Amino acid sequence: MNMDRESVVLPPAVTVLTDLVTAMAEAFRSCGGTATRRAAMAASVANRLGGLNPSAGRPNVERCAMPSGIAMDDIMEEAEAGPMGAVARALRPVLDDVSWEETYREEEIGRDWIMRSGYFDIASPARGLVRSNDVASGFMIMGPELVYPEHFHPAEELYFVLSGQAEWRYDDGPWQNHGAGDLLFTPSMAVHTIRTTRVSLFLMYAWIGDLGVSARLGRP
Ligand SMILES: [Fe+2]
Repeated sequence: MNMDRESVVLPPAVTVLTDLVTAMAEAFRSCGGTATRRAAMAASVANRLGGLNPSAGRPNVERCAMPSGIAMDDIMEEAEAGPMGAVARALRPVLDDVSWEETYREEEIGRDWIMRSGYFDIASPARGLVRSNDVASGFMIMGPELVYPEHFHPAEELYFVLSGQAEWRYDDGPWQNHGAGDLLFTPSMAVHTIRTTRVSLFLMYAWIGDLGVSARLGRP
């Protein structure tokens, strides 16, 4: 059959994934540059996300449900109305297809964390909805008044705050408050801690570098 290229319609799953990775790339691109390591990583993440091909992705066969203690409707509403609204709106049609994950076992981090926090990859080498070799990026939620204890990982990391307020600390430095629209850079192996305020924290993250080694609690 001879099909006109213009008449070929991609399946909805691919078009919404394309819209999502494009919105994610654009957010990082808006902060990219060469002036700082943070800006350089944002530019690099933007290029890597922008180069992905969602039609080469794979189905998320083992879909894990969202932790029951996460108030996702309220969190999404706030994010869609905030400075990162374009990313949140692009994420909404994909939310039922993501697989929620936990980095740590309940014995390590406690039941409250398992019930009220979680993350899901959109693009990564091993999981997520879009196959990627050189960047892992997705979304993380922490419920109100929750502490992510000191942890570290060899990958470099960016956190982009979609909604909420939280305090970050790197190594033995001061606690610093961050909210929607803020972009934070974590160097390889840096010890970092996050504690949320009275509202949930909604983050987009990106890792580059050693993507095969998970975060570990404590200090190196
Ligand atoms: Fe981290």
